[in-house]
Amino acid sequence: MDASDVQADLVNVLFTEEQIQERLRELAAEIESDYEGKDLLIVGILRGAVMVMADLARSFGRHLEMDWMAVSSYGSGTKSSGVVRILKDLDTDISGRHVVIVDEIIDTGLTLSWLTSNLASRSPASVEICTLLRKPEALTMPVDVKYVGWDIPNEFVVGYGLDYRERYRNLRDIGTLAPHVYS
Ligand code: PRP
Repeated sequence: MDASDVQADLVNVLFTEEQIQERLRELAAEIESDYEGKDLLIVGILRGAVMVMADLARSFGRHLEMDWMAVSSYGSGTKSSGVVRILKDLDTDISGRHVVIVDEIIDTGLTLSWLTSNLASRSPASVEICTLLRKPEALTMPVDVKYVGWDIPNEFVVGYGLDYRERYRNLRDIGTLAPHVYS
């Protein structure tokens, strides 16, 4: 669906499908150039990163491998608890591999901060992060992110993998959710 299908639920459209695809092409070109001559494994963080992974991967004009992880950052009720659990681990042995973690949003930074050190402990050749969105005002811990689509305000955004109660993930655009939907 696109923004017109859920117009009443959105305050505005932050990024259209076309803008997202264009930015992903730019990020893929940047990554491709940085990893020239090297094997590359991109790791998507389920479930929100599915759309970014699918479109980013197809923007590459070279071979790469894809793997997936699922983590839960709500182990003890809230994200602020700082607890991250692995629900699905990699199928790939990443020792000696160049890894780029792909996610759709960095909010507090907890998930990616924890994941980066977890993967770094497995002796990869390198680990970097690519995220479509980042909320600088929401960050509670430093996360070293090499590839960022856009920095956005600390607002409730949905679409393109981002959900509110599991809905809106299949929205093609990214929009700010209207307060009446969640209040
Ligand atoms: C989102 C997103 C990141 C995480 C970022 O996943 O995909 O992994 O939150 O938040 P943080 O920076 O505060 O840790 P979420 O837990 O909503 O799961 P989902 O991908 O299944 O929607």
